[in-house]
Amino acid sequence: MKNRFLDMMEQRRSIYRLNRNVTTPPETLTRLIKAVVKQTPSAFNSQSTRVVVLFGEHHQTFWELVKSALAQRVPEKDYPKTEAKIDDSFASGMGTVLFYEDRQVVDELQKALPLYAEHFPFWSEQASAMAQFAVWVALTEEGLGASLQHYNPLIDNAIAQRWKLPDQWVLRAQMPFGGIDHTPHEKTFIDDAQRFKVFL
Ligand SMILES: Cc1cc2nc3c(=O)[nH]c(=O)nc-3n(C[C@H](O)[C@H](O)[C@H](O)COP(=O)(O)O)c2cc1C
Repeated sequence: MKNRFLDMMEQRRSIYRLNRNVTTPPETLTRLIKAVVKQTPSAFNSQSTRVVVLFGEHHQTFWELVKSALAQRVPEKDYPKTEAKIDDSFASGMGTVLFYEDRQVVDELQKALPLYAEHFPFWSEQASAMAQFAVWVALTEEGLGASLQHYNPLIDNAIAQRWKLPDQWVLRAQMPFGGIDHTPHEKTFIDDAQRFKVFL
């Protein structure tokens, strides 16, 4: 079936060997990422998602901080492999998008709408996931590759300090992006019968 959105979804893959061979300028990508996040739906239009976009030296510093955090956790003999992965897969790219959720927005909604209080933390996570996916697909449309990483909470304090981020911002995911250096492996799918029930 032909559908432009589905085409983009099919092209979006986890790209692990990123390069800086990107012609789109950072300013254009920033405009795109901001617009995409703004257009992402959120529960009660609460707009709880916060985003930090790191380019150039900032992007490099970010991955240095990730490596420092991992060096304290990973057994010494395994660390060279970890370091090589970060250098070749993520730091080698053009930039990194950090996805945060604002805990204060969730707290205020829980107070304002006690009937839904227990749901707001989940809806916040769901809104973040939607924004992550939307940015990933939008970067794909620009011809860029990206992957989704979760070095939180290990890195949270170091990152918040380095870029002076508000305490109530909670890091949910990191998305390194850049030029594409490899073809992703073939992807397999479980049977439709396990996933879908359609009643016509
Ligand atoms: C919620 C979620 C968490 C993920 N976490 C990670 C992660 O921490 N590290 C990673 O390399 N990939 C992560 N991925 C990527 C998945 O492994 C990947 O999307 C999946 O294997 C399908 O491959 P594709 O992205 O190439 O279609 C995550 C994906 C989702 C949706």
